[in-house]
This record gives sequence, C-alpha cells and structure tokens, in this order.
Amino acid sequence: MKTRAAILREPNTPWSVEEIELDDPVGGEILVKTLAAGMCHSDEHAHDGTMPAPFPLVGGHEGAGVVQATGPGVTEFEVGDHISCSFIPSCGKCRWCASGQQNLCDLGAHLMEPEMMAGGFRHHSAAGEDLSAFLKLGTFAEHMVVSVDSAIKIASDIPAGPAALVSCGVTTGYGSAVNRAEVTPGDTVVIVGCGGLGHAAVQGAAVAGAKNVVAVDPSEFKQESAMEFGATHRARSMEEATELVGQLTLGVMADSVILTPSVLTGDMIAPAQFLTRKGGTVVATAIAPAMQMDVQLNLFEFAMMNKQLRGCLFGSTAPRKEIPHILSMYQAGQIKLDEMITNTYTLDQVNEGYQDMLDNKNVRGVITFH
Ligand SMILES: NC(=O)c1ccc[n+]([C@@H]2O[C@H](COP(=O)([O-])OP(=O)(O)OC[C@H]3O[C@@H](n4cnc5c(N)ncnc54)[C@H](O)[C@@H]3O)[C@@H](O)[C@H]2O)c1
Ligand SMILES: [Zn+2]
Ligand SMILES: [Zn+2]
Repeated sequence: MKTRAAILREPNTPWSVEEIELDDPVGGEILVKTLAAGMCHSDEHAHDGTMPAPFPLVGGHEGAGVVQATGPGVTEFEVGDHISCSFIPSCGKCRWCASGQQNLCDLGAHLMEPEMMAGGFRHHSAAGEDLSAFLKLGTFAEHMVVSVDSAIKIASDIPAGPAALVSCGVTTGYGSAVNRAEVTPGDTVVIVGCGGLGHAAVQGAAVAGAKNVVAVDPSEFKQESAMEFGATHRARSMEEATELVGQLTLGVMADSVILTPSVLTGDMIAPAQFLTRKGGTVVATAIAPAMQMDVQLNLFEFAMMNKQLRGCLFGSTAPRKEIPHILSMYQAGQIKLDEMITNTYTLDQVNEGYQDMLDNKNVRGVITFH
C-alpha cells in the first residue's frame, strides 16, 4: 500500500516527508493505522548523530494506533484493536522477559539493525530504496508495520496522544523515579532536565510520595511547567540546586537525583553525586554520545559515602506491565498526560516540531494523524 512517512537519510539533514510503499505484514506482524506519534529527544539523537542509527530510516518510536490487518498466524491482535507501541520489543521467552525485566529483552539487540525483526524490509521509498523503521517502529508515518512483540493492546477509549506518550518517554521518566530511584514517601528527589521524560519523572516522584521534588532545567518555561506536575521547588542548574537542597534537607542532601537532560555528558555525574546524600542514588536515564568514556566522579566519596549510580533503560521494568499500569493511573486522574502535550503538529510539520523541542517550547510535541 502507499502511505506517507518522515524519512531521515543521513544525520543533520531535514526530515523528508514522502509517499512510501509499505508491504503487507508477514507472520508475527501487524499493520497499524497511526493515530498519534510523540516527538522524543531520541529521534533527535539519530538526527544529530549522537546515537548511531540504520539510515535511511522512517523516524519515530512513540506511537499509538488501530490495527488494520494482521499477518499470517497472528493471534495476539484483531483488526480494530487499539495499540500503544513499545520502543523495546518483548519476546516473553528470554531470560530477561522471564524475570520481569522485559526492558532488557534479548530482542533489543536487533534495534539498530536495518532489517525488520522477521527479516527483510517492509518500507520502501518511491525510488525503490529500502528503509528501516527506527527502533523497529517508524511511528512518523500514516501507517506502520510492526512486530506483535513491539505492540501493546490498550483500551479503545484512551485518547491517542496519551497512548503515544507511554511508548517511551512517560514510561521511562516515571520508571526512572518509581522503579530505578525507588522513591519512597518523604524523599527529596532532584530531576535534572524537565522535558518529556523529566515531567514524567516529576510525576513519578510525586505519586511515590516524595516530600521535595526539585525540578532543574535552564529553561524557565520547563521549570514553571514542572511545578504544575508535582515539583515543589525549582532551579536553573545543579549548582543552584545544591544550595537549595542543602537548605531543604538540613545538609543531608537528596535521596535520589534523576538525570533526564537532552544529552548526558560525563561532567554531569560529579555534580549529581554531590547533590545526593550518603547511601543515595543517581539515576542516569538520558542518552550520552555513544563513544563517551570519560566520566567525572569522586571515587573516594563514591565508595566512602556508599552511593549508587544506576543506568535506566525504559523505566527499568516490563513495558507490558507498566504501559497499561500508567494508562490506568491516567484514567484514574493520578498521572497527567494530556497536559504534557504542549503542541500538536501534522506529519508535514515534523521539522518545525523538533525545532520547537530544541527551542524549549514543548514539554512534548505530538504529531496527530486524521
Ligand atoms: N534511557 C531511556 O530508556 C531513554 C528513553 C527515552 C529517552 N531517553 C533520553 O532521555 C533524554 C531526555 O529526553 P526528552 O525527550 O525528555 O528530552 P527533551 O528535549 O524533551 O527535554 C530535555 C530537557 O533537558 C533540559 N536540559 C538540557 N541541558 C540541561 C542541563 N545541563 N541541566 C538541566 N537540564 C538540561 C532541556 O532544557 C530540556 O528541557 C534524552 O537524552 C533522550 O534521548 C532515554
Ligand atoms: Zn524515546
Ligand atoms: Zn525477551
């Protein structure tokens, strides 16, 4: 079939919105009509070259839609089912899936390969070139062909925008606080970088009962917005937050510091470490340049203060559990998702949407399809 998609052929060139040829789903795949796609910073990392990616590609890995067709032998979905994408597929059978760590599923090893997980390409440009689907999804398209392992059935009354945000950003940010920092009632938590992930981390810390939630971001808009989502204090930088957190905790410092800035660099670890109390936890969630090896850390203080530095992929839990769970909290009014969508765009406005993200105009921008 013919559909339209936003394509990236090489880093640092604009997204190109084009008509493409999309093949029928094969066994283990479904065809989905896209309803909404979230604009996560990770696509920008493919765009600016921070993260290696299989070019040329159809972008996007936050998305929600309706199943339009199922491939041969698919029993998990029926036409008309609503789905939210999961940016890490889960097989349900590997060691990690079997132990509740579906975010670490062995299928994740295929994410940077150009071909679909079932082999071959389903996406082709009008000129006939094979296109990969970013993170095996490619949500910046009017239709997608995805593996059943990358799709999660959701209630049909959940609006498409919120359903798209949980594919990656919200689940990752929320889980960074709840699952990886293990925030408990009365904690003092610092969130460094308050975009899409940071706003979800702020909400996660708040629902977990944190007493102080300090939102750190150089953008005034992001700081003010975070206060509407559960932050209790704000600061422009980790340096500014250090004095504030010292006052709030009578010098004890933060129970946890969650790093969700645009890009993580090695010089951010030491200031985060110094913001953290004895025995406290620094959670590193943001993506760093792929070859970043040099990290500033006071090793003496790290050991002698019994501190932890933890990486966090997709909220450190099972997306098949967490995505429906967060959506149920949204439906119960405990998590704000509609409010995180600052602006919506058409597919043709994808470059404008990313410029707005970089200009700090959006908590999250969302592409909507009709
Ligand atoms: N670990 C994972 O599974 C995972 C999943 C999704 C995204 N990510 C990564 O998380 C990061 C955040 O993604 P996002 O979509 O929320 O990005 P975003 O662009 O929406 O937000 C980033 C925010 O960080 C702020 N910022 C930049 N430098 C800062 C600094 N030095 N101190 C404090 N704040 C700073 C920006 O002003 C912005 O508000 C990105 O690196 C993204 O690729 C990781
Ligand atoms: Zn993402
Ligand atoms: Zn698995």
